[in-house]
Amino acid sequence: MGRMNTEPTQITRRDALKTLGASAALLGLNLFASKLSAAPSSADVGKPGVDVYPFALPPLGYAFNALEPHIDARTMEIHYTKHHQAYIDNANKALASRRALQNMAPEYLLAKLDTVPEPLRTTLRNNVGGHANHAFFWEIIAPAKSPAPARSEEGELVVNDSGMGKDPKPLFDAIDETFGSLDAFKKQFGDAAAKVFGSGWTWLVASRATGKLAITTSGNQDSPLLTNDIPLLGLDVWEHAYYLKYQNRRADYIAAFWEIVNWRRCGMFYSRTPGAPFLGVSHFAQEEAKMTKMIKSRS
Ligand SMILES: [Fe+2]
Repeated sequence: MGRMNTEPTQITRRDALKTLGASAALLGLNLFASKLSAAPSSADVGKPGVDVYPFALPPLGYAFNALEPHIDARTMEIHYTKHHQAYIDNANKALASRRALQNMAPEYLLAKLDTVPEPLRTTLRNNVGGHANHAFFWEIIAPAKSPAPARSEEGELVVNDSGMGKDPKPLFDAIDETFGSLDAFKKQFGDAAAKVFGSGWTWLVASRATGKLAITTSGNQDSPLLTNDIPLLGLDVWEHAYYLKYQNRRADYIAAFWEIVNWRRCGMFYSRTPGAPFLGVSHFAQEEAKMTKMIKSRS
């Protein structure tokens, strides 16, 4: 995987970000606030509700057309129901007779791939990787409220929002410190995404050990977890993610991506570093769906 980061060039302080949506608190962020040990343990896997075998599509959280005009409904539908589903089907097939591996969350399997029987590794790397990467991707995009982040008339930052999240200010501060500014980060990230040859991903990651930020790229469905990094933001640059609308214009797709980044979700993932647990991101979507249903049933 490629990696690039910059030495801190400046630190800027952003205006205090007004807490967006009391619903986040209602949805029980504390359920996920505790940090588990960086070392995997039995607490990391096999919990009821955690995304384990057989894997299934996580709830999307928004309609296929909700990201238009930035990502069109047809692309979303095919990407989610066909491409993501195919990775899930292949991963389930590969694990069908592997009882010992069936209680492991996808993120754990990827982080510990070198302990998996060798004949299985490539299949799991590609398909568990594909499942984890796409489950993550659906989490960190959301219907656009405004170019994200933007300033409201009152000077507050306005960010896209879809359910649970965390104040992204600490993440923005870390981005400022690492890359100089949000715009400088977006430029570096976009340049890296444009240069991915063939099919792959571009990531903003935090080191599991230190929490330090970096931009990385990966080929095929390789996950940052393979190199012990925690993904905070990721962009799928496989052609299946954008070809119907953008054809060969990957740069336009990259530009549109910034309109739909769910920074509150990214902020949530950042808040768990260093030492992030191995719970799957689809776990969040499942828990969120349950909490939303419970809240609705009470109102
Ligand atoms: Fe994809």
